[in-house]
Amino acid sequence: MRQKIVAGNWKMNNTLQEGIELAKGVNEILKANAPKCKVILGTPFIHLTEVVKTVDSKLISVSAENCADKEKGAFTGEVSAAMVKSTGAEYVILGHSERREYYNETPEILKAKVDLALANGLKVIFCIGESLAQREANEQNAVVKAELEGSVFHLSAEQFANIVIAYEPIWAIGTGKTATSDQAEEIHAYIRSVVADKYGKAVADNTSILYGGSCKGSNAPELFSKPDIDGGLIGGASLKAGDFYDIIKAWN
Ligand code: 13P
Repeated sequence: MRQKIVAGNWKMNNTLQEGIELAKGVNEILKANAPKCKVILGTPFIHLTEVVKTVDSKLISVSAENCADKEKGAFTGEVSAAMVKSTGAEYVILGHSERREYYNETPEILKAKVDLALANGLKVIFCIGESLAQREANEQNAVVKAELEGSVFHLSAEQFANIVIAYEPIWAIGTGKTATSDQAEEIHAYIRSVVADKYGKAVADNTSILYGGSCKGSNAPELFSKPDIDGGLIGGASLKAGDFYDIIKAWN
């Protein structure tokens, strides 16, 4: 059966020293309170090596927040999937709406990143989700389907087993405005049906679909009680160990 997951996405927060302290804090809490789900810390590139060293790999996996769309070479400032893998990180977050919007990441660019991540043995947390205007026009289903088709549905079923989907409605990210659990469940079930149409029911049943967007300790239990919500991708509330644990313990 599919994994229950709580993943943090630190975004562009925390110096190296602050990041190590935060990772230590999460690790200490989980050492004392074994999590009932997979826990992932998504950190900036420069934190990866140290965070991998800081945490117990049996309790916490580490993820990058991005990787390059090129394999290697003269691409100043870029970080390749092979480099991410060499830090000991196991995951990479791709397709986040902030990367699509502010860094013009197109479905084609994301497809190249997904392929390179998988070729280098990383698992991918692939983000999808509609804007407020698209939700108001009732286009959310078409948007998330197109995002999957554009960047991950070229994969074989075997490759697709390394994809975690994160549904993050853009209007709920960092706004304090969460999708209601019914709204989230409705679209998660739709996403699973789209995966089933493409890869079959068994693959769809094994795919973890996370919710992201103002998820916190107070709303996580209700969201995670829904049958098609397999956990969360957490921004703001992943920046304090206690707040992050409040979400993790929603699975207890
Ligand atoms: P917030 O939890 O801060 O709304 O961010 C969600 C997110 O974008 C995680 O990737």
